[in-house]
Amino acid sequence: MTDTATPWWRDAVVYQVYLRSFADSDGDGTGDLRGVIDHLDHLTDLGVDALWLNPFYVSGEADAGYDVIDHRAVDPALGTLDDVDELLRQAHARGLRVVGDIVANHTSAHHPWFAAARRGGPGHPARARYHVAPGRDGGPPSDWQSLFGGPAWEPFGDGDWYLHLFDVEQPDLDWSHPDVVADVERTVRFWLDRGFDGLRFDAAGALAKAPGYPPIPAGERQPGDDHPFSDRPEVHRHHRRFAALIAERPGRFGVAETWGPAWVGEPYLRPDELQQAFAMDLVFTPLDAAALGEAVRDYLAAAARHGRRPAWPHGNHDVTRAATRWGPDGALAVLLLLLALPGATYLYAGDELALPEVEIADADLRDPTWRRSGGTERGRDGARVPLPWTHTAAGQHGFSPAGTSAPSWLPQPPGWGAHSVAAQRADPRSALSAVRSALAARAALRDAPNPVWLPAPEGVLAFRRGDVVCVLNTGAGPLALNTWGSDVLASSRTLDGGGRLAAPGTAWVRHGTGSVP
Ligand code: NOJ
Repeated sequence: MTDTATPWWRDAVVYQVYLRSFADSDGDGTGDLRGVIDHLDHLTDLGVDALWLNPFYVSGEADAGYDVIDHRAVDPALGTLDDVDELLRQAHARGLRVVGDIVANHTSAHHPWFAAARRGGPGHPARARYHVAPGRDGGPPSDWQSLFGGPAWEPFGDGDWYLHLFDVEQPDLDWSHPDVVADVERTVRFWLDRGFDGLRFDAAGALAKAPGYPPIPAGERQPGDDHPFSDRPEVHRHHRRFAALIAERPGRFGVAETWGPAWVGEPYLRPDELQQAFAMDLVFTPLDAAALGEAVRDYLAAAARHGRRPAWPHGNHDVTRAATRWGPDGALAVLLLLLALPGATYLYAGDELALPEVEIADADLRDPTWRRSGGTERGRDGARVPLPWTHTAAGQHGFSPAGTSAPSWLPQPPGWGAHSVAAQRADPRSALSAVRSALAARAALRDAPNPVWLPAPEGVLAFRRGDVVCVLNTGAGPLALNTWGSDVLASSRTLDGGGRLAAPGTAWVRHGTGSVP
């Protein structure tokens, strides 16, 4: 690729394959790499550019693969290294790029480094690879709380405590230790050399902790704040290094898993850092044209200041399903809004089917959040229920091979087959059909200029990119589109008899009927 060519990842649609819930090829109730290979046609039919695979490494399975025991080996329950190579080969043969996931902030408590740290005792050099500190007054070294609930410190039982911002099974690595830096660099190179086209960097903002683990300031975070473990300036040294490793291989990219408003993500988009950072507040923005317009403009402006474009998440495995957050029509309306903007869109597996969040019985919950919060936070399992491929129930609606008796790792609710790929493929009014049509129509926006915001009535957001106008209607009633254009390129829902777009809905129209504002 030359410097002048548009990099493939800049406006890519990246489909997030949540591996454990995508497709189970061997009937053990958990999705696996072969299952992904078997269903690559679904991704090409849909028309996405790339897939992102959540961690498939050897894991303690305390946090669905984000507690890694061996960062460069495949969990036998999910497949083999040969399966990874085959997946890369078959995806590439279909023109799909593949994005991996690097978990650099912590390891599993069963990682050999942590086993050595546990055994070693106070002062042992193995403890220096983690955040380990002596207790204070018989309690933890500081008052930090885990993001999954409960204290963020766990005693070793010998006077020392270790930090875990996530589960107790996920001790935080100390990034000032050279072994930590060297090992993650080896991991990054390992997967890039195998052929991954991009890498997501998990918990990107957590890699540095303030010395002495000082108290967390009360109240909302503010620009310029000094949070003791989130988005500290020191993390950027590591991100620059990741970016340099990626730059060794042309055409690859990295995306930082950032959380928060545009000002939090902006420093991660400086020209010598990773190419993308998630515009995560988008998923928490209400279905309201003014609120969405403001969030979108903030992220676009922040990225543009560094010559970048945002990475727009529509949903993921950590948040409530889009169809429940915004309603089924709202989820599609927001998706078409994001797809019309400059930048990459991340579509979470199952959101093309408008799958709802599932109420899971207490006894079946697997997310560590449930246990750590003392049963007050149900956690993220409701967004992780295995996908329904077939209308019929056999093999958990085609998630597992027919005849499989093993239950899926999270139970599917009654009626799940009605949402299935097979059921929706046959229905031109389905969510799947709307997403597929929008992805095909998106070609009209390739290389389109930046948005020009257009005057619009209350509850409506409208912008033009070249000769395409995108209109989001979150207002009270149906909206006539002929103000902006007549030729409808895509819409999130069927227009009414008068050619009007109901709310919530998004349509892309070809500009040029003469009555454009
Ligand atoms: C972010 C991941 O998306 C989430 O699933 C995980 O629990 C945490 N990072 C910790 O790795």
